Amino acid sequence: MTQHLITVLPGDGIGPEVVGEARKVADAAARIFGFQLKWLEFPFGAGYYLEHGLVLPPAALDDLAEGEAMLLGAVGDPRVPPGPLEQGLLLALRFHFDQYLNLRPALSFPGVPTPVALPDGYRLDAVVVRENTEDFYMGLGGRGAGRLDQPLETRRGLYELSGRLNLELKPGEEAAFSLGLMSRPAVARIARKAGAIARARGEKKITVASKANAVPHLYGFWDEVSSQTLSREFPDLEAARINVDALCYLLPRQPLDYGVILCPNLFGDIVSDLLSALAGGLGLAASGNIGDGLSMFEPVHGSAPGLAGTGRANPLAAILSSALMLRHLGREEAAWAVERAVLNYLQSPGRPFELGGRDPVQAVGDQVASLLHP
Ligand code: NAD
Ligand code: IPM
Ligand code: MN
Repeated sequence: MTQHLITVLPGDGIGPEVVGEARKVADAAARIFGFQLKWLEFPFGAGYYLEHGLVLPPAALDDLAEGEAMLLGAVGDPRVPPGPLEQGLLLALRFHFDQYLNLRPALSFPGVPTPVALPDGYRLDAVVVRENTEDFYMGLGGRGAGRLDQPLETRRGLYELSGRLNLELKPGEEAAFSLGLMSRPAVARIARKAGAIARARGEKKITVASKANAVPHLYGFWDEVSSQTLSREFPDLEAARINVDALCYLLPRQPLDYGVILCPNLFGDIVSDLLSALAGGLGLAASGNIGDGLSMFEPVHGSAPGLAGTGRANPLAAILSSALMLRHLGREEAAWAVERAVLNYLQSPGRPFELGGRDPVQAVGDQVASLLHP
């Protein structure tokens, strides 16, 4: 029987609970379709960091690379200040494995109310195509008093950078900076992905989020390279450039007007949470961090520490992320069966707490698994 080795990072907060249900459902689908998933679990996250003083041991990257795909819960914990875990683990993995496409579908479900009413019989069906390696996520920055003098070194799949930023401030005056950066090949490859996804969906238009009016160096370059790539390689598609503030205004007013939304890293993060709300909730929003090597699947949401251990976490986003993972493994039938089972569960009387019901996290997983059919 074919076996797929999956590396798993349950992570923090509700991560382990929702990943447990995703594994349960994916295993049940594998049984039905005659293959096996072998899970190799790693303990990284807040607990490991607090115990060992280290987010990710260097050798771990090679161990994680053993898998055919990776499944992640979420990282982030109130005992650790914002940054070290998110940057040192989640972003480090996206960058190390050059997972340059963050695919974030936003799909509403019949029977799940949306905050903006949709016409009868219509589903919101949009997808954020988020550049996942650059922009203000470069991790290049620093702070200082009197002067900012900072070595800048980083490595991506496409390049290595090294240099230095040196700025004089007034004596004793304190300041901080973060460098946003975009490179032509990175913008071109994500535009190319967005074009291919739009074409496969039969779209006529791609929405390109930007903010070149306020930050012309960075987002002007984003507009230029993405529109050159799209017009050259996808002349059949209209590239509709829009400032991200206007996009956030228009999305809730006319959510059905949008299909593929191409975003730089930072705006993609924000727009995907907004779209998840419009589609019914963060607990339904799945995502994939996809590259040419190891890809990693995870819910859009975070570790929701306040919900951990209460049974109130909605595991459907993690379950739907495992469906994206199954599709990536070439298990289209199993992926589709998981998505159909979620759809059927949401049309049954059962509901997770997030959607106004009383099904604890494990009960949601059990019911979805029981609704799987070949
Ligand atoms: P969050 O996504 O964890 O929570 C936002 C809101 O949505 C909260 O009200 C939460 O209770 C709710 N929510 C999220 N997931 C839910 C689910 N499955 N079921 C029901 N309700 C759910 O965002 P946050 O509060 O900004 O972040 C909490 C921590 O998670 C922080 O440390 C943050 O850095 C981290 N984070 C990690 C990831 C990741 O690992 N991919 C993503 C986002 C945030
Ligand atoms: C996400 C998260 C991460 C991001 C954080 C935790 C670094 O919000 O995956 O959406 O900003 O990409
Ligand atoms: Mn986010």
